[in-house]
Amino acid sequence: MRKETWAIILAAGQGTRLKTAAGETSKQFLPYQGAPLFWSSAVNLARVPRLDGLVFMFPPDKLAEAAGLVEELNATTPLGLPYICAAGGEERQDSVVNALAALPPACAHVLVHDSARPFASPALSSRLLDELAAGHKGVIPGLEPADTVKRVNERGLVNETPARKNLRLVQTPQAFEREALEQAHAHGRKLELKVTDDAALLEAAGIPVLVIAGEAANIKITRPEDLAMLQNNEPAQKKMLPCTGLGYDVHRYGGSRPLRLGGVLIENSDLTVKAHSDGDVLLHALMDALLGCASAGDIGAHFPDSDPRFEGASSAVLLSEVLELVRGKGIVLTHVDLTIVAEVPKISPFRKEIAKNVAHLLHLAEEQVNLKASTEEGLGFTGAKEGIKAMAMVTALRPHNF
Ligand code: CTP
Ligand code: MG
Repeated sequence: MRKETWAIILAAGQGTRLKTAAGETSKQFLPYQGAPLFWSSAVNLARVPRLDGLVFMFPPDKLAEAAGLVEELNATTPLGLPYICAAGGEERQDSVVNALAALPPACAHVLVHDSARPFASPALSSRLLDELAAGHKGVIPGLEPADTVKRVNERGLVNETPARKNLRLVQTPQAFEREALEQAHAHGRKLELKVTDDAALLEAAGIPVLVIAGEAANIKITRPEDLAMLQNNEPAQKKMLPCTGLGYDVHRYGGSRPLRLGGVLIENSDLTVKAHSDGDVLLHALMDALLGCASAGDIGAHFPDSDPRFEGASSAVLLSEVLELVRGKGIVLTHVDLTIVAEVPKISPFRKEIAKNVAHLLHLAEEQVNLKASTEEGLGFTGAKEGIKAMAMVTALRPHNF
């Protein structure tokens, strides 16, 4: 089973510190950029290329209403990812526990995010996930305070002045290995720990947590003075527009690379291709189609033949870079239709496996990818078994201006 990454969007609080100033509306439901505030956090997370899904946590008494709202918003500005809505708990940490229970079994990595931080960039999440992939179990963003910090007693008398360079003001999203986070919450429950972020529970359980550079703009809407940050009520995304991208590629047989199609090694064919990278003609056509959707040129411009970095490069890795670019522009893929034209090999024994692998590489459901194969009736270079061609058509929704 592929290891998935999901984000938990915490929107189950009361927003007590802001309620009076906000006219009794809990802050996550305040209007911002034409939608409730929590939606901005969701849209930013949905642009994180490696994300597979989102869990929204809402106050139990508002769950049905809020879930309806998510459905409506997703119909006009699709997140492009599966999502789940669930009921939060009394305290923030209880909401996280409920979210962990709602995650699908395939989820191995999680981002926990306060919905009250609508300005966190997708790039911040990507940096956190990079460190998680490098083997850390907990990675959080933080900034060195600009002010000197004092530790005081109940009467306000200073006990201590910690060195500023060792202090971090930490933010969300916080990235965790799911198992480590579950273990840390179980440990915290046993000791009845009360915490204000998830990293504190890992620390208490003796699991190391890495702090990386946070973002100055990533503030949490908390106090009345923060409401000024939500002045912009222009819709961030106008209606999404449909777009298509077409890709076409040819490879000559011979050379040294074993034949790969859609990332799948075509075994027992003895066919090889001449290519600078791994010569996966289908993924090359697909990348061009994706770049077409993004108005971003072609693979020749992004991965030039002349660059030794791409000698023998895995097309699946290049595809993940292209996907990152496409997702970063807010594009939501809706469907992929692929055609391979070749006299040899016979594609039918591999058809299902290739389509499934392409869906997996694009983080799409299997029914969103179709693969066809055809011959050219013995005509031309495919008919002469001198080479193979592939075509890809990608349909997607893109933001109004991107
Ligand atoms: N949160 C949650 N479940 C709770 C409490 C908080 O999901 N039981 C969420 C909030 O909705 C918020 C985030 O956790 O997005 C960070 O918490 P905080 O800023 O403290 O928000 P609130 O608890 O809502 O605000 P306050 O503390 O002022 O009541
Ligand atoms: Mg709170």
